[in-house]
Amino acid sequence: MAPQQVVFNALFASLDPGEEVVIPTPCWVSYPDMVALAGGKPVLVACDEFHGFKLRPEGLEAAITPRTKWLMLNSPSNPTGAVYSRGELLALAVVLRRHAHVHVLSDDIYEKLTYNSDFATMAAVAPDLYQRTLTVNGVSKADAMTGWRVGYGAGPLALIKAMNLIQGQTSSHTSSISQYAAIEALSGGRDHIEEFASAFLQRRDLVVTKLNQAEGLSCRVPDGAFYVFPSCAGVIGKRTPDGKLIETDTDFAMYLLDDFAVAVVPGSGFMASPYIRISYASSLEDLTRACDRIIAACAALS
Ligand SMILES: Cc1ncc(COP(=O)(O)O)c(C=O)c1O
Repeated sequence: MAPQQVVFNALFASLDPGEEVVIPTPCWVSYPDMVALAGGKPVLVACDEFHGFKLRPEGLEAAITPRTKWLMLNSPSNPTGAVYSRGELLALAVVLRRHAHVHVLSDDIYEKLTYNSDFATMAAVAPDLYQRTLTVNGVSKADAMTGWRVGYGAGPLALIKAMNLIQGQTSSHTSSISQYAAIEALSGGRDHIEEFASAFLQRRDLVVTKLNQAEGLSCRVPDGAFYVFPSCAGVIGKRTPDGKLIETDTDFAMYLLDDFAVAVVPGSGFMASPYIRISYASSLEDLTRACDRIIAACAALS
């Protein structure tokens, strides 16, 4: 099944009505809606830029109630590119040990795309939490096989069995052609991953450098995935050349799209404003052109 389906099946299989899922934000757009669709209650915990957009132990402790079923972790993160270190996960594990009813859904889909830091994941750093952790991965990102729709999950047997039941009554399985392609990807040479990561690193550095030249934007250097998540606080309150007031990150994203033909996603979609998310899974030429237009767009505001 697709990586997205693995997450959905896990939530659908496990959540009783009103049970809570702790979601550190900024988060991938689908998490809160998936939780709601499965009858659960998303509990969003804002993780500020100052702390690298990462959940801290005290934030986790404060969010947990007797109704908490899951903590969602996504490292490297979509949209921020934040990567949790082994030490940061261990600090969260200390809290989780105090709350035996809380499970961890670790979405590791960007595992292979880290730059300055080593990848770490909860089931590996805290083996005593292994039995309450679902680890999700797939071929979409590291193997550039997004359209093939192949992902996988590893976790407690009872949960995996329940997820299988749901899968069996929905689409049964992803196409057999995709499954064979994924076997080939996972069992063949992995040299391309290093190549991809070094190309992404070059693109990341270009995009961060350029965005920091744009008046009103400020862009931290992300450690993984292929996204940057600059703050656009400095453009809020300004006016476009035709007099429109930029009140939100959505206004800014629409201005970039309508007037400069650059597509970015407003931070509000990821439950964090005022930010925009830019994917650098594009060519250096396109990224250069897009960033130059963003710089021009910011300069045209007054
Ligand atoms: C954090 C995260 N998890 C899961 C997925 C789902 O991957 P797929 O669309 O290949 O199912 C994505 C896709 O963008 C993602 O960013």
